[in-house]
Amino acid sequence: MKAMRLKKPGGLDNLYLDKAEAGAPGAGEIRVELHATSLNYHDLMVVKGMIPAEEGRIPMSDGGGVVTAVGAGVAEFAVGDHVASTFFPEWLGGEAVAEWMRLVPGDRSDGYAREAVTAPATWFTKAPKGYTHAEAATLTCAGLTAWRALVVNGNMKSGDTVLVQGTGGVSIFALQFAKAAGATVIATSSSDAKIERLKALGADHTINYRTEPNWGDAAKKFTGGRGVDHVVEIGGAGTMAQSIRASKIGGHIALIGVLAGFQGDVSTVTIMGMQLRVQGLTVGSRQSQQDMVRAIDANGIRPVIDSSFPLERLADAFRHQESNTHFGKICVEW
Ligand SMILES: NC(=O)c1ccc[n+]([C@@H]2O[C@H](COP(=O)([O-])OP(=O)(O)OC[C@H]3O[C@@H](n4cnc5c(N)ncnc54)[C@H](OP(=O)(O)O)[C@@H]3O)[C@@H](O)[C@H]2O)c1
Repeated sequence: MKAMRLKKPGGLDNLYLDKAEAGAPGAGEIRVELHATSLNYHDLMVVKGMIPAEEGRIPMSDGGGVVTAVGAGVAEFAVGDHVASTFFPEWLGGEAVAEWMRLVPGDRSDGYAREAVTAPATWFTKAPKGYTHAEAATLTCAGLTAWRALVVNGNMKSGDTVLVQGTGGVSIFALQFAKAAGATVIATSSSDAKIERLKALGADHTINYRTEPNWGDAAKKFTGGRGVDHVVEIGGAGTMAQSIRASKIGGHIALIGVLAGFQGDVSTVTIMGMQLRVQGLTVGSRQSQQDMVRAIDANGIRPVIDSSFPLERLADAFRHQESNTHFGKICVEW
């Protein structure tokens, strides 16, 4: 069985094709023939060695595939079921607990850049009906993060205004979930060509954050001065000040990403004065993924897939991600 592995100390040239076996499932386990994964910024940090991984690590947190064998005592899955992997396999539901967040496939254990895996059944959920394996694989990290930000933590409701930043995987999912919930979406991008695609996906208002550095104020203007209800904050330090400016009093900022820096100056007095709720989050639980899949079965959202690469060209897929020319998710399929 083919698998891509990573040599220490990491770097795209240190990804190599190798093998990995997947035996018969034991009690409580399933064997999944994998056919796709999708790229996240987190995976890029692993393969570039920014997050140190063991020698020979199989990268990639996301996996989509089909169940080929079921171990004793597994009632939830049958042979032939299409499944998606979970980001924190041990966080099944409820409040996050530190021990449950230690295991992340593709980071602290082997991930899904491989043709098959045998694992506890609880490491997967069913995929939405009719999804391709690549579509299913986009849900594990990016899809669930957007879902948790807006639905689980944000309690988003019809009529809310949601600000999404840029056109990466998390932000495009956030736009789609927001539109499906009846929210108004303000979307930003550094590219006018991508802004046209944001409009085609239903963005109500758009801002080029390169040509409009005060995009927070521009976003607030679109709300008639009230401010947005939710910001899907994927930049972090470099974007937080504008996110605060865009927010309504009592608004919710879902602090997700680090694309514009890991730390910086933040006006805590403004957060206090505006009574903002700044909520950090890391992906979500298996229960939230099951809820999201049920919602997708109802609302019919299809992930936006920018491009697809074969398994052997995983490094090229990451080079494409680094170019920032993508819109939505980059996938790898085999
Ligand atoms: N906390 C969590 O659980 C969690 C989960 C998933 C992802 N994340 C984080 O969220 C961030 C996004 O992840 P992703 O997988 O969606 O990344 P991605 O697909 O690689 O997103 C890249 C896009 O982000 C946009 N972008 C980059 N810098 C920006 C900035 N300063 N302001 C606004 N947009 C900017 C660009 O869009 P344009 O080209 O349109 O400008 C770029 O094409 C990453 O930092 C990632 O680590 C966190």
